[in-house]
Amino acid sequence: MIFLDACRGKKTPYTPVWMMRQAGRYLPEYMEVRKSAGDFLGLCHDPQKACEVSLQPVDILGVDAAIVFTDILVVPLEMGMELQFIKGEGPFFPKPIETMQDIEALSIEKAAINLEYVYETIRLIRGRLAADKALIGFCGSPWTLATYMIEGQGSKTYAKVKKLIYTDPALMHALLTKITAVLKLYMENQIKSGIHVAMIFDSWAAALEEDAYFEFSWKYMKEISSFIKTNYPQIPVIMFPKGISGYLDRIDGDFDVFAVDWSTPMELAVEKLGDRYVLQGNMEPTRLYSKEAIKSGVEHIIHVTKDKKHIFNLGHGILPDIPVENAQYFIDLVQTLTKKV
Ligand code: CP3
Repeated sequence: MIFLDACRGKKTPYTPVWMMRQAGRYLPEYMEVRKSAGDFLGLCHDPQKACEVSLQPVDILGVDAAIVFTDILVVPLEMGMELQFIKGEGPFFPKPIETMQDIEALSIEKAAINLEYVYETIRLIRGRLAADKALIGFCGSPWTLATYMIEGQGSKTYAKVKKLIYTDPALMHALLTKITAVLKLYMENQIKSGIHVAMIFDSWAAALEEDAYFEFSWKYMKEISSFIKTNYPQIPVIMFPKGISGYLDRIDGDFDVFAVDWSTPMELAVEKLGDRYVLQGNMEPTRLYSKEAIKSGVEHIIHVTKDKKHIFNLGHGILPDIPVENAQYFIDLVQTLTKKV
């Protein structure tokens, strides 16, 4: 399987490609299924429909991997936190974590069991996915999840969560430890249900200064990846710490693929990490508004990564108003230009 081979650093007939948030609002077929499910969380809770939208980018665009349709925030939801998705604004936890009692009230084993609808979605996808396509399972990093759980929503300053790491680090570590325990069980269950590859999204990595990053985020991400690599060595792990180009010298650990975000120059990632890890990424997602910009972006990345192990992707999620035709152009172009003769 070309995607799995690439994750393992083997030579492939062309560079495999997929897009973060590839099952999403830019696809009219997605909007149709979402409407029939009621809302976004309704779609996540319906394995048949979630399976259907997971397969859409594979069937419509020909990407080399499907990613399970769900959200990183179903984990805090099933740990016992109320979660809403507010139209036009994004996720919202009305009762954010404030005290040690709030942390003690969160469940671990029960959360991993309650996420059964994700495991069922995975089994359904595997029943329908072509043998030459990979299925990616995922979770949010403990830091990114904890940030949402404490801030209650997206934040510009991260003041609440950062106040906590400097005034009560023990409380923060207690929360991160608990989330990490759930995520190990969650990823293990995803693996047993049929994912081929595991990815950890650390979308809010860039909120932390360097030492704090390694203490409050990377350490816990590495704990999850080590757990997977020790118990399931056949499963490649992709790490995506977004926006930490200044910290690449200190990146280490037992994982396979480093996902490069669009703000990190691929040249720098190649220099610092290209001999140790497969690199994924990192086309600037807004280049998808223009075919010329797609072409020059793809050519640049091919040029920079030519001697290295590489998987093509965007450097963050595809935006809802990208024309499908342009997404198709990007996928086709990568698969054509990287073909080995
Ligand atoms: O196709 C895929 O990539 C699979 C599905 C997927 C979703 N969310 C579905 C989704 C994945 C991998 C995620 C991860 C996710 N969710 C992250 C990490 C990656 C990143 O983007 O940094 C984060 C931070 C979240 C939290 C989240 N979920 C936000 C901030 C939002 C609202 C913003 C937005 O784009 O509307 C969501 C909602 C969400 N998750 C949507 C989708 C398709 C849009 C919901 C809709 O249909 O209206």
